[in-house]
Amino acid sequence: ESNQFCDAGIGYCESEHGLASGSSSKILIRGGTVVNSHLQEVADVYVEDGIVAAVQSNIKVGDDVTVIDATGKYVMPGGIDPHTHLSMEFMDTQTIDDFFSGQAAALAGGTTMHIDFVIPVNGSLSAGYEAYVEKAKKSCMDYGFHMAITKWDETVSKEMEIMVKDKGINSFKFFMAYKGALMINDEILLEGFKKCKSLGAMAMVHAENGDAVFAGQKKMIELGITGPEGHALSRPPGIEGEATSRAIRLANFVNTPLYVVHVMSIDAMEEIARARKSGQRVIGEPIVASLALDDSGIWDPDFKTAAKFVMSPPIRGPGHAKALQAALSTGILQLVGTDHCPFNSTQKSLGIDDFRKIPNGVNGIEERMHIVWDSMVVSGQISVTDYVRLTSTECARIFNLYPRKGAILVGSDADIIILNPNSSFEISSSFHHSRLDTNVYEGRRGKGKVEVTIAGGRIVWENDELKVVPGTGKYIKMPPFSYLFDGMDKINSEYLSSLRAPVKRFKATS
Ligand code: URP
Ligand code: ZN
Ligand code: ZN
Ligand code: ZN
Repeated sequence: ESNQFCDAGIGYCESEHGLASGSSSKILIRGGTVVNSHLQEVADVYVEDGIVAAVQSNIKVGDDVTVIDATGKYVMPGGIDPHTHLSMEFMDTQTIDDFFSGQAAALAGGTTMHIDFVIPVNGSLSAGYEAYVEKAKKSCMDYGFHMAITKWDETVSKEMEIMVKDKGINSFKFFMAYKGALMINDEILLEGFKKCKSLGAMAMVHAENGDAVFAGQKKMIELGITGPEGHALSRPPGIEGEATSRAIRLANFVNTPLYVVHVMSIDAMEEIARARKSGQRVIGEPIVASLALDDSGIWDPDFKTAAKFVMSPPIRGPGHAKALQAALSTGILQLVGTDHCPFNSTQKSLGIDDFRKIPNGVNGIEERMHIVWDSMVVSGQISVTDYVRLTSTECARIFNLYPRKGAILVGSDADIIILNPNSSFEISSSFHHSRLDTNVYEGRRGKGKVEVTIAGGRIVWENDELKVVPGTGKYIKMPPFSYLFDGMDKINSEYLSSLRAPVKRFKATS
């Protein structure tokens, strides 16, 4: 095929399957097992104009409708990835996937919406927002924004309000690491949490003790450890556990819900478990890398191989992944993200002589749905309804998009995947759809394959081929005050419940 978007196997193919098939407005998915997080049943799904119009058995349609046979397959809500970094400027470079290539990769892997992190420009939230509006113009699937808070003053505080009330952002991320760049201190964390609470916005944290990381890095360099393994050695699990605990306790002090992004270690998970047991509203997001990889990659003698695994917090040693899977299957952790933050080999080479300069980040947006299916459902750890909850529904609930997203119900957006449990997937940088020249899951195979992806009512992935059109993805505004805020102020936090009326003391008379 000869058109500008088709050369990487990503195509809006003008020739044999142009807009007509790519934008089919009436689709019937026949005979599949329709899975929502609350129920699975054999039913037909009828889609019209981008919306689910009917879910019932034996739907009759005319011949202007595209019919897909899903007998023996699962029909599920498209994945929602709560954590991505497309076209992100970071560590002197920019992630290699933009809003088109990253989303095309996502769609090929069964993810139909993602929430990306807007990074402020020189601390300005509105400038950051405008920059991301530009980046996202080429989108081919729906997306939303979180926003990072990288400094604190009256302007930032006012802009947070504008972002929530006018721009559709209902979550703010605070980096407790990346000293000298994105990191903020506890004072800003407290101010930010208070503001989040008042706006009904979710406070999110990258939980690592940035000062300890800085000291750990210095120590490694002094020891002469300059390779990628120095990255893991400089920021051990305890440093992640400490920051997770601190963020949780400060959120408790402010009495606002907290979302811990990229939970990488048992240490962080245990802090979340402890808080949840005490009744605190803390959400824990493991990522595909923390569920499915260990630290062996970063010790590879080949720099290119080792460097592709460098991310923060680091991918941990043996045992952590299994423990995080167990925590996910038992409700200690709530949903799965990717932290898709791809840098190719040349970009990773910026740190060839010093691990501190290796751009941090791994891929995952295209692999998440398959790897979670294989490692959690096929292994018997979770049900298919749990799978839908962990990859889609819970994200939609937390960020207040349910049931428009995260469900196949009448009126929901027609973001749907068809997964064949009897087929299999294989992962390789030689045929994945991301622009990345490597893949941290290179060579991995497993059971289950997303055979069809429907996004916004269009068939965008079928027969191993993408039919995606830049500009068709919509920005999804996310309203504040999700269910996690319901009744929040009726719950006395540890701090508030210890408050008493002041003691009246009488002045001594001489
Ligand atoms: O290494 C990572 N995680 N890169 C992306 C930025 C972040 O901290 O989420
Ligand atoms: Zn084609
Ligand atoms: Zn982070
Ligand atoms: Zn991230």
